[in-house]
Amino acid sequence: MHHNKKTNGKGVDTSATREAAKNFKDGAVTVGYQADRKEVIAMLNNALATELVCVLRYKRHYYTVTGLQNGPVKAEFLQHALEEQGHADLLAERIVQLNGKPDFNPVDLNTRSHAEYDDSSEIQDMIKANLIAERVAIESYRQMIEKIGETDPTTRHILVGIMAKEEEHADDMRDLLA
Ligand SMILES: [Fe+2]
Ligand SMILES: [Fe+2]
Repeated sequence: MHHNKKTNGKGVDTSATREAAKNFKDGAVTVGYQADRKEVIAMLNNALATELVCVLRYKRHYYTVTGLQNGPVKAEFLQHALEEQGHADLLAERIVQLNGKPDFNPVDLNTRSHAEYDDSSEIQDMIKANLIAERVAIESYRQMIEKIGETDPTTRHILVGIMAKEEEHADDMRDLLA
């Protein structure tokens, strides 16, 4: 085995990787997976609920904002809605990779979500609600990333990317505050 490791020069233990690859029905999940898979899936499902509620909130705001002078704000709401949808897709995809079931059930979406829905009618109230929701999202991703640590680098990488986008979103909303 030592000979093998030395000659392949790839820095991996070939017998261990072959062993890990055997249960092919587990798809992307190998025996070496370090995290608590069920816990990660539950965490990702709450994040998925959060993103879906954020899509709905931004869409609600996008469609109800009126006035020529509010065009740029409207555009920002739409862009955020699309990006939150992108986050939801990334999370659902990762849940499936981990052999979990993505939960799109609308019945308890709002209770599973970290951030809140908002149906304000004043544009400044909408911006404020979005800023608060983004800050809630940032904090929840920060906690998830901390919890995962080094146990699941792929999930961690996805969450870090989403969190960076939520920080941009919060900054965008703050810029729009009157
Ligand atoms: Fe998001
Ligand atoms: Fe966001």
